[in-house]
Amino acid sequence: MTTGSYVPPLAPGKLPLIGHAVPLIRNRLAFIQRVRTYGPIVRIAVGPKTVTVVNSPDLIHKMLTSQADEFTKGVLFEKLKLFGKDALPVAEGKPHLRRRRMMQPAFHRQQIEGYVNTMRESVEPYVAGWDGGTPLDMKTEMQLMAQSVVMSALFSSTPRREPAHTLLHSVDTVFRTALKRALLPVSALGRLPTRGNRRARAAGTTLRTAVADIIAEHRAHPDAYDDIVSLLLTAQDDTGATLADDEILSEVVALLAAGSETTAVVLAWLFHELGRNPRLERLLHEEVDSVLAEGPLTAERVTRLVHTRRLVGETLRLHSPAWLVTRQTVSDVGLGEFTLPAGSDVIWSPYALHRDPGLYPDPLLFDPDRWLPERPQPPKGAFIPFGSGKRMCIGDAFAWTETIVITALVASRWRLRPTPGTVRPVGEITTHPASLRMVPELRQHTVAGKAR
Ligand code: HEM
Repeated sequence: MTTGSYVPPLAPGKLPLIGHAVPLIRNRLAFIQRVRTYGPIVRIAVGPKTVTVVNSPDLIHKMLTSQADEFTKGVLFEKLKLFGKDALPVAEGKPHLRRRRMMQPAFHRQQIEGYVNTMRESVEPYVAGWDGGTPLDMKTEMQLMAQSVVMSALFSSTPRREPAHTLLHSVDTVFRTALKRALLPVSALGRLPTRGNRRARAAGTTLRTAVADIIAEHRAHPDAYDDIVSLLLTAQDDTGATLADDEILSEVVALLAAGSETTAVVLAWLFHELGRNPRLERLLHEEVDSVLAEGPLTAERVTRLVHTRRLVGETLRLHSPAWLVTRQTVSDVGLGEFTLPAGSDVIWSPYALHRDPGLYPDPLLFDPDRWLPERPQPPKGAFIPFGSGKRMCIGDAFAWTETIVITALVASRWRLRPTPGTVRPVGEITTHPASLRMVPELRQHTVAGKAR
């Protein structure tokens, strides 16, 4: 650890009492990008508290890797304990490591390849069910698909639309509440019996009851399933101990929450970008048509969708779903030339980092070709949509594959046309379009002729 001697400077524009609350409430995404320009580490004031924002890619990398043990996950994840206090995204220290080791096999690359069929089967009914000409709310539509994919890999479910909607709504409510609580200056406000808090508790109960039933069913008929829940039921730690039902329940709920909205918003942004880039859309159609002409999507065929992969990568860069990730220092921590006192709330923003003109030329341009292998790649630590180090997203390979599969299946059948109006990004739990409606138009002359 390099011990610095200065407390990071305060960002300009702080008002008495409320600090930077106004720009934070008015437009968080614009604010966090402006804060990036103030220096490698700065502090912002949120009511009576100050929060340290780490902007430099090198220091973010250090914080997440070599200095990771000096930080806990911090305020946002604290509130997500709503999902269960030991679930992977919120566990700390040794319990986290134990869980991570037990869960990792379910997310190994080979395992993910095995999920491609399941992913295809769960997406096809959605893609086939659209009415040409009827506008779609893209975020909801993509969320239904992404959630269906995660649920099928987790517990072999093939949800009918209504139960999927209920679960989706519950996950959404719980997430929104967590974010609101994280941004509250006084944490006791989050426990008041307000309508919002009651709704969040009810949503949590709905979610947990549904998942508990699924686990019971797997225990009763273990041979009938081959999915992530089956793997978790048999996973063992170094001592041979297995996970109890309530531990599996917490993990499943957390995976459902962590894996649905994130992927969904990437897909929504991707189709938004395609809707205004006919050249990129045409290239996608050509690639998808030529690969699917050989047969249904398989893990091997996914690897050949290279333009599709670059579209996904560029969407993860420009529209990084995570705009705010939190940490807290466990002791006084030296980071760069600064000292962060014990208990400091720290945040970093993949969204702001990915739009840094010092790291990406013309950063606001959606340009998948910047990921062509012959082009210079961004420096180490500059592209971190999934984080880095020991807390890096366990579902990154899953998310890449799922996003490519859904993009290809949609593109094999439909074009999504934009509707009039501006599409405005909003930073909540994820960076999502405030409203994005697009009109599906059946493609003519597709090789598939039908969704594959
Ligand atoms: C595009 C989609 C996704 C994005 C952008 C994303 C992003 C992230 C990020 C940034 C983190 C790290 C947070 C931190 O450092 O504090 C994370 C953690 C996590 N993600 Fe994802 N994620 C995505 C999809 C998924 C999927 C599909 C799953 C599972 C099915 C998943 C499960 C998790 C879990 C369990 C963690 C916690 C890991 C740990 O702390 O050990 N995510 N994700």
